[in-house]
Amino acid sequence: MSTWCSNSAKLLLSVYVMSCLLGACAGDFYQDMEITWGDHRAKILNGGQLLTLSLDKASGSGFQSKHEYLFGRIDMQIKLVPGNSAGTVTAYYLSSQGPTHDEIDFEFLGNLSGQPYTLHTNVFTQGKGNREQQFHLWFDPTKTFHTYSLLWNPQRIIFLVDNIPIRVYNNLESHGVAFPSNQPMRIYSSLWNADDWATRGGLVKTDWTQAPFTASYRNFKADACIWSPPPSSSSSCSSKLQDKPWSNQGLDASGRNRIRWVQSKYMVYNYCTDLKRFPQGLPLECRRSRFL
Ligand SMILES: *[C@@H]1O[C@H](CO)[C@@H](O)[C@H](O)[C@H]1NC(C)=O
Repeated sequence: MSTWCSNSAKLLLSVYVMSCLLGACAGDFYQDMEITWGDHRAKILNGGQLLTLSLDKASGSGFQSKHEYLFGRIDMQIKLVPGNSAGTVTAYYLSSQGPTHDEIDFEFLGNLSGQPYTLHTNVFTQGKGNREQQFHLWFDPTKTFHTYSLLWNPQRIIFLVDNIPIRVYNNLESHGVAFPSNQPMRIYSSLWNADDWATRGGLVKTDWTQAPFTASYRNFKADACIWSPPPSSSSSCSSKLQDKPWSNQGLDASGRNRIRWVQSKYMVYNYCTDLKRFPQGLPLECRRSRFL
């Protein structure tokens, strides 16, 4: 290695370490993620700064985080499949394991060229979901990267898009509604073909002449408590959880204004207003104040 190279490498390293100390540590996909399926269709590029997933007729692809987390704020920038993406689904979610797993979902349902993506969200607790809310976006998510974040603390889960809250799921355990409180979750993402359900029940088929379809990821950031599996079974920030800026974060006045704006203009489905689906009465969490 030439002197210039090693000096600039040292400089880069120290800038990186400093920015980590300042709490703005951008992830390195080699370090944080592992490719779990799809062979060559999933790639880590640019020295760990970029990850791409692709889908062709034979297979999709996916990755997952090396760590499990128990509470945190997790940010990822994603650029979705452009053009005619109808039938493709890009899923990005947190999930624990087993039949009573918890899960917090973002799923991006592709559409015909020029037609809007649907951002599908859901929360599973103790293995049960059925809490779908869907949105259109106020921008084209295929033109450039946008930031999708999950803030998960003991009081609530907040879904954010470019730092704008779009959904809140409050902890109502004291009212008998389950909340993801004690199962550590991993980050998962995959790009797959779902033209049997994603396009209004299979109305539109994936156009394989456009394959391979590609989605890109960058600037992963987890300010989160990392779980250590048994025998220690502890989360590495549990003692300092209180010091994290997100540890009891809710919506302030501006957050409440923004979520009202998104939900009134861009929400296209809300289980909490689907009376036909819940003839015995809406789920309890829907009947409590929405953005506590
Ligand atoms: C595709 O766009 C149409 C029309 O704009 C919209 O009604 C539909 O929900 C969209 N489909 C998906 C899967 O997002």
